[in-house]
Amino acid sequence: MPAPRTTPILQAALVDLIDLSLLAKQAHWNVRGTNFRSVHLELDEVIDQVRVNSDDVAERLAAVGASPDGRASTVASTSKVPSIEPGPINAAVVVAEFASRISEAARRIETALPELDEDMPSQDLLIEVVAGLDKAAWMLRSQTLS
Ligand SMILES: [Fe+2]
Repeated sequence: MPAPRTTPILQAALVDLIDLSLLAKQAHWNVRGTNFRSVHLELDEVIDQVRVNSDDVAERLAAVGASPDGRASTVASTSKVPSIEPGPINAAVVVAEFASRISEAARRIETALPELDEDMPSQDLLIEVVAGLDKAAWMLRSQTLS
């Protein structure tokens, strides 16, 4: 029997991570303009990272006796990650939009961490996820001068 908050917190993280991977692939295919190649390739690095994260989170759910739900319909109806516009997207817009979406996903997970004080392995896993998302957002943001 998982700790009371474990299942909803891990499930919320799971759908956000899956959605980030799908949106990043959409942007990987549709990015245009200056820095195309850099952003195109960096998005695949983000995808690799969040796919590993989502697999770890899903398998943690399974390990504690819950059922991970990674169905497209569940992701579409419960992800908190805003979608992106269809069609070509300027590379600078992609960088800004993904830096913010990744940071916001990290903050949603981070906010829930204190509720996992009675489930240290799940808490520890999500701390690693947050640190990785923060690093990915920093690497994207650092492409723009400010
Ligand atoms: Fe590709």
